[in-house]
Amino acid sequence: MKKSSVLFGALWLLASLAWQPSAWAQDLPARNQYSAKGADTCLECHDDESASYSASALFKSKHAHRGDKRSPFGAGGLQCEACHGPGALHARNKKAASINNFGADSALPVAERNQVCLACHQGTTRSAWHAGAHERANVTCTSCHKLHQPRDAVLAKTSESEVCLGCHKQQRADFHKASAHPVRQGKMACSDCHNPHGSTVQGMLAQPTLNQTCYSCHADKRGPVLWEHAPVAEDCALCHAPHGSVRKALLNKSPPLLCQQCHSTAGHPSVARTGAALPANGGTGAIFAIAGSCTNCHTQVHGSNHPSGAKLMR
Ligand code: HEC
Ligand code: HEC
Ligand code: HEC
Ligand code: HEC
Ligand code: HEC
Ligand code: HEC
Ligand code: HEC
Ligand code: HEC
Ligand code: HEC
Ligand code: HEC
Repeated sequence: MKKSSVLFGALWLLASLAWQPSAWAQDLPARNQYSAKGADTCLECHDDESASYSASALFKSKHAHRGDKRSPFGAGGLQCEACHGPGALHARNKKAASINNFGADSALPVAERNQVCLACHQGTTRSAWHAGAHERANVTCTSCHKLHQPRDAVLAKTSESEVCLGCHKQQRADFHKASAHPVRQGKMACSDCHNPHGSTVQGMLAQPTLNQTCYSCHADKRGPVLWEHAPVAEDCALCHAPHGSVRKALLNKSPPLLCQQCHSTAGHPSVARTGAALPANGGTGAIFAIAGSCTNCHTQVHGSNHPSGAKLMR
């Protein structure tokens, strides 16, 4: 390698490492003054009579809890400006662009908007935020959370999925299929299986593996069993579609095809639906493969505890 290219490489590295201040940050000197009277300044205009926006619903939420010293309204807190940032300039010029509104048109870049919230909400379920698909896809905390409302829809099991399905169209279709987890009925939420704040597990699952996620409700499938069926212990999704399926029991495929992805068709009759296999046409036994197909005989597909259950039949 030539000396000049090494030098160039080093310079390029330095340049790319250098901090790039956002337009917002460059503007800071003018913007970094807090209003004189905190929330009282803001409420001069954003009260219930405000034509542009009333902020009063916030006072029904935990964020306005004065007794909690961690809250924006706790003793010494920055109140409205804890989230919206310094607002003296805005209180003077009343221009939307001079204050962070957490919207897509905000002058504050996504990562800095999220940092406002993370400053108080790091840790617990958010500790893997930076490893998650939402942070990578520029989803913001406020894409899901609505703070100026008496009730934040995403926090209630019955209304959470509507928030998620607003962006996830494929999953909306899946949950409408004949066999589906009862999410639409409000009995389950996406967050029973996923950590919406991100996780290091593929698919942002709530538990360390896919199977552990399922075991958290279907504990009977965890085992150990005397006669294990290998794919069950490995990955429930080898046979089941977690969101929904047009087949019964959330199956990816119906038996016999489901089973024959891995098991040979040789040995015993398996194809029920061809005329030739039917007894009337000289076929033998394939009648047993109708309806439940393989599971007519191999009922214990998830494993068996019976001493002679090796073939998963009892
Ligand atoms: C003198 C009146 C006045 C005061 C004081 C005031 N605002 Fe505003 N604010 C407005 C008006 C008017 C708008 C609408 C501007 C527009 O639509 O262009 C607005 C808009 C906003 C918006 C929404 C911006 C958007 O993009 O829609 C936020 C957030 C906001 N104000 C927060 C605050 C906060 C926080 C304070 C206190 C630090 C504050 N305001 C103080 C008049 C005021
Ligand atoms: C805990 C953070 C937080 C606090 C504290 C807070 N806000 Fe907000 N505010 C938000 C978020 C987030 C939004 C975006 C809409 C939403 O989530 O409901 C918003 C939206 C607004 C808007 C409207 C922007 C628009 O056009 O949608 C105004 C005006 C506003 N806030 C004013 C205030 C005032 C005044 C206070 C103090 C009384 C205050 N906010 C306190 C987080 C906060
Ligand atoms: C100054 C610190 C602070 C800031 C900034 C802040 N919060 Fe909070 N937040 C709190 C506190 C304190 C609570 C109450 C926690 C509790 O009761 O356990 C809370 C509660 C919440 C809750 C739960 C509400 C409920 O009803 O259970 C959500 C959701 C939330 N915050 C989201 C956000 C989002 C999104 C932002 C950024 C727009 C934000 N917070 C900014 C301090 C803050
Ligand atoms: C994809 C939607 C989504 C996004 C984005 C999101 N949240 Fe949440 N958040 C939820 C859901 C759903 C719950 C309730 C279930 C749970 O706790 O997992 C929740 C719960 C919370 C709670 C209250 C419960 C607790 O863990 O203390 C806080 C605080 C919170 N989120 C803060 C944040 C912050 C900060 C961000 C941005 C870094 C954020 N959220 C981004 C969906 C989201
Ligand atoms: C504002 C739009 C938006 C909302 C609201 C939203 N998501 Fe997402 N979500 C995305 C985007 C964008 C991606 C990344 C691209 C993709 O995989 O589709 C994503 C990815 C995901 C992934 C895939 C993770 C991976 O590693 O492949 C899961 C799981 C997910 N979201 C669950 C949820 C849940 C649960 C909620 C509600 C609590 C929710 N999302 C709300 C936009 C959203
Ligand atoms: C019963 C558990 C469960 C529920 C409930 C659930 N998911 Fe999933 N989801 C999964 C599993 C398992 C995966 C596959 C993860 C993997 O890739 O290994 C997944 C994957 C995803 C993905 C990634 C794309 C894909 O299809 O592989 C998205 C996006 C997603 N889920 C969104 C949602 C949304 C939105 C909801 C609520 C409406 C939801 N999920 C409810 C278990 C669940
Ligand atoms: C939060 C609890 C919960 C979790 C986690 C969960 N399930 Fe379920 N599962 C349920 C409930 C509730 C039902 C519906 C039972 C009913 O309708 O009688 C169900 C039903 C099923 C069914 C039968 C559906 C039918 O039509 O008969 C299958 C298969 C299933 N789940 C597989 C899984 C798999 C695979 C996972 C992991 C990806 C999983 N479940 C995770 C709660 C859960
Ligand atoms: C080899 C394929 C296969 C694998 C892997 C598999 N299942 Fe199943 N599962 C089935 C079949 C087939 C049925 C339908 C049985 C019937 O027809 O009654 C079923 C039915 C179910 C049912 C509903 C009926 C019942 O037995 O409660 C649940 C719940 C279920 N499976 C959960 C799981 C979980 C959790 C896992 C992962 C630990 C898993 N399955 C792995 C094939 C499989
Ligand atoms: C993802 C692959 C896969 C699928 C799908 C699958 N199996 Fe299996 N099955 C296996 C493996 C691997 C074994 C263990 C084979 C061994 O130990 O030699 C096994 C073992 C068995 C055994 C015991 C065989 C023996 O020699 O003791 C039976 C019976 C069986 N499976 C039936 C089924 C049925 C019925 C279905 C459909 C509902 C099915 N399998 C779906 C992979 C699969
Ligand atoms: C009429 C009942 C019946 C049906 C239907 C049936 N099996 Fe079997 N299967 C058996 C019996 C009985 C054995 C045990 C044979 C032995 O012990 O030698 C067996 C054995 C097996 C074995 C172990 C390997 C072997 O040959 O010993 C596998 C794998 C298997 N079946 C898969 C399937 C699959 C896949 C289907 C559906 C295409 C299916 N079975 C349908 C009765 C049935």
